[in-house]
Amino acid sequence: MKTVKQKRNLFLHVRPRMVPAKALRFRLTWGLGGAATLMVLVQLVTGILLNFIYEPSTLAAYGSVQHIHYDILFGRLFRNLHHWTGHALIVIVFLHMLRVFLSSAYRGPRHLNWIIGLGLGFLILLANFSGYLLPWDQRAYWAVTIATSILEYLPGFGTVLLEIVRGGSDVGSATLRIFHTLHSGVLPFLLLFLMTWHFWKIRRAGGLFLQETEKGAPDSPTPSTTRLAARPHLFVREKAVAAVVMAALLYPAIFFNAPLGALANPGMTPETVKAPWYFIGLQELLIHVNPVVVVLVLPLLTAFFLLFFPLVKEDNILGNRLVRLLFIGLVAGFALLTIIGLSFRGPAMQLVWPF
Ligand code: HEM
Ligand code: HEM
Repeated sequence: MKTVKQKRNLFLHVRPRMVPAKALRFRLTWGLGGAATLMVLVQLVTGILLNFIYEPSTLAAYGSVQHIHYDILFGRLFRNLHHWTGHALIVIVFLHMLRVFLSSAYRGPRHLNWIIGLGLGFLILLANFSGYLLPWDQRAYWAVTIATSILEYLPGFGTVLLEIVRGGSDVGSATLRIFHTLHSGVLPFLLLFLMTWHFWKIRRAGGLFLQETEKGAPDSPTPSTTRLAARPHLFVREKAVAAVVMAALLYPAIFFNAPLGALANPGMTPETVKAPWYFIGLQELLIHVNPVVVVLVLPLLTAFFLLFFPLVKEDNILGNRLVRLLFIGLVAGFALLTIIGLSFRGPAMQLVWPF
C-alpha cells in the first residue's frame, strides 16, 4: 500500500512501483541510459550558471568566458564540468544506442522509442556543436567555419542553408546569436520534451525489454514473475550509478581545463583547421569521396536505414544478419574515419604518423 509520502512524491511516479527482478541486472543496461539522463541534467544546471555571466556578442563573448574561467568563484569548475560532460555525453549516448541495438530492444512496441532516441542523439550532437562556438576563440571560430562550410556541398539549396545557419555568408555576430539561442533555449527545451516522451514510452512498453532467456524458466529461482519494489531495489542501483558518473565527471573537471585559445580572428586561418571531433569522420570522408555523396546520399541512406531497420521481422534470419552486418559496418567505418581524422592528419590535413 502506498504511504502518504509516496503519493505526494512526483519523482516516484517516473518509475513503476514494482520492477521485474531480471530488469535490475546491471548488465542489462550498463547504467547507460541513466548516466545519459544525469549528464543532461548536469548540462542544464551548469549551463544555466554559465549563462548568468556569458555574453553572446562577438565583442564580449571571449572576455566573458575568460571572466568565468579566471575570476568567478567556482567558474572554472563549472565551465570544465560543462565542457567535459558535453563531450562525454556523445560517447555515452552512442554506447547506449549500441547496447539497445545489441539487445534487440528496438522492435515492436519500442520502435517509436528507438526513433525518439535517434532524435535525442541528434539533439546531443547539435547541443555540442552549438556550444563549441560560444567561447569565441580561434579553435571555436575555425572549427565551426569548416564544419558549417560542409553544407555548401548540398546541391541546389546548400548555399541558402549555409546562410541561414550562419545568419550571413560568414561566421560572425549573427552566427553567435543564433548558436547561443539554439544552445541555451531551443535545444534544451526539445531535449527535455523528447526525454519525457522517451521515458513515458518505456513505461508504455511495460518496462525494459527482456530476452526470452532472461525472463527465466518457470522453475528458475528468479522466474519472470518475480517483481521487486523499485524502492529500494532500483533506487539504490540508480544512486550507485549516479555516484560513479559524478565522480568520473568531476575528476577531469577538477584536473583538466577546458581549452581556451586566442581570441577569434577571421583574418588569420590557423595552419590546421579541423571540424569538432564528432564531425571529423565526415571531414575525412570528404577527402576520399565525392562531396555530394558525403553530404547528401550517405546521410539520407544512413537515416533511412537507422529509422526503418527495426521493421525487419524477428524470424527473418537473413534480414537480421544483414542488419547486424550493416550496423556494425557503419559504426566501425565511422570510428575508423574519426580516428584517422583525429590522429593521422597534421598541418593542411596531410597524413602524419601520430607516434
Ligand atoms: C539524451 C539521450 C538519451 C537518454 C537520456 C536516454 C535515456 C534512456 C533511459 C534512462 C533508458 C532506460 C534505461 C536504459 O536502457 O539504460 C532508455 C531506454 C531506451 N533508449 Fe534511450 N536515451 C537516450 C538516447 C537514446 C538513443 C540515441 C537511442 C537509440 C537510437 C535510444 C533508444 C532507447 C530504447 C529503444 C530504449 C528502450 C530499451 C529497452 O526497452 O530495453 N535512446 N533510454
Ligand atoms: C545537453 C545539453 C548541453 C550540451 C551538450 C552543452 C555543451 C556545451 C559545450 C560543448 C560547450 C563548449 C564549452 C567549451 O569548450 O568551452 C558549451 C558552452 C556553453 N554552454 Fe552548453 N551545453 C548544453 C546545455 C546548455 C544550457 C542548457 C545552457 C544555458 C541555459 C548552456 C550554456 C552554455 C554557455 C553559456 C556556454 C559558453 C561558456 C563556455 O564555453 O565555457 N549550455 N556547451
